[in-house]
Amino acid sequence: MQEQPHHGSPEDYWDTFWPAAGEDTGGVPDVSRMRWTQYPFHGPGAEFLGEPKTALEIGSASCVAGVALARTGVDVTCVDFSPHQMERARGWWSDEPNVTLVEADVLHYLARTDQRWDCVFSNWGAAFFIDPEILLPLVLPRLNPGGLFAFSHVEPLAPCFGPQIKYGNGYRGEKLAIVRWMPSNEQWTELLDRHGFANVEVTTLPGKEAGWVGTTLGRAYAR
Ligand SMILES: C[S@@+](CC[C@H](N)C(=O)[O-])C[C@H]1O[C@@H](n2cnc3c(N)ncnc32)[C@H](O)[C@@H]1O
Repeated sequence: MQEQPHHGSPEDYWDTFWPAAGEDTGGVPDVSRMRWTQYPFHGPGAEFLGEPKTALEIGSASCVAGVALARTGVDVTCVDFSPHQMERARGWWSDEPNVTLVEADVLHYLARTDQRWDCVFSNWGAAFFIDPEILLPLVLPRLNPGGLFAFSHVEPLAPCFGPQIKYGNGYRGEKLAIVRWMPSNEQWTELLDRHGFANVEVTTLPGKEAGWVGTTLGRAYAR
């Protein structure tokens, strides 16, 4: 399997980034509604996925999106390779019905499992941080016929589409870097079409107010 370009391990980045950003100091998160955008009460909820019976969340972090979906009656498996995030997830959701928590690299997990799901989704998750040329061929065979691959991530800023490497640890000390994959809507559509998905639809949902950062939302189906 082709290696992802990185300096330091990507797990290190995620174990460092969230605590450093002060993003994970709060208590039990609100899972009353599935969110697809960076703004509360903006954009679609769980209905974005149709009516799957089973779903796999790739890059779930603490599994907030997956648990919100599970509470609508879907059987959800959440995969993330950050020990820090999975520890938080296990602390909150170990006894949650319909939720399975897996600490693993999504690429290894998808390559090794023979399970299939009605839906595979990335809610600002792994699809934002893995080369789609590597990820998409692993996702498609894991979908049931007619199954849905859905994703969201921040709206890329034109003209800087595609892979973007950035330091994850400030500009001093040990090199720690992460690659974000931010194809344009047209690039995503071409990628999904070329990798055999059907009914591809990738759009930008504008931010909550005029001029605010928007969200890329994508859906594509197994034939
Ligand atoms: C922006 S974050 C979290 C998104 C999450 N859905 C949320 O809203 O809290 C992206 C997550 O993807 C995970 N991730 C990135 N690449 C991964 C990979 N190859 N395998 C597993 N998890 C990965 C990171 O550990 C991180 O927790």
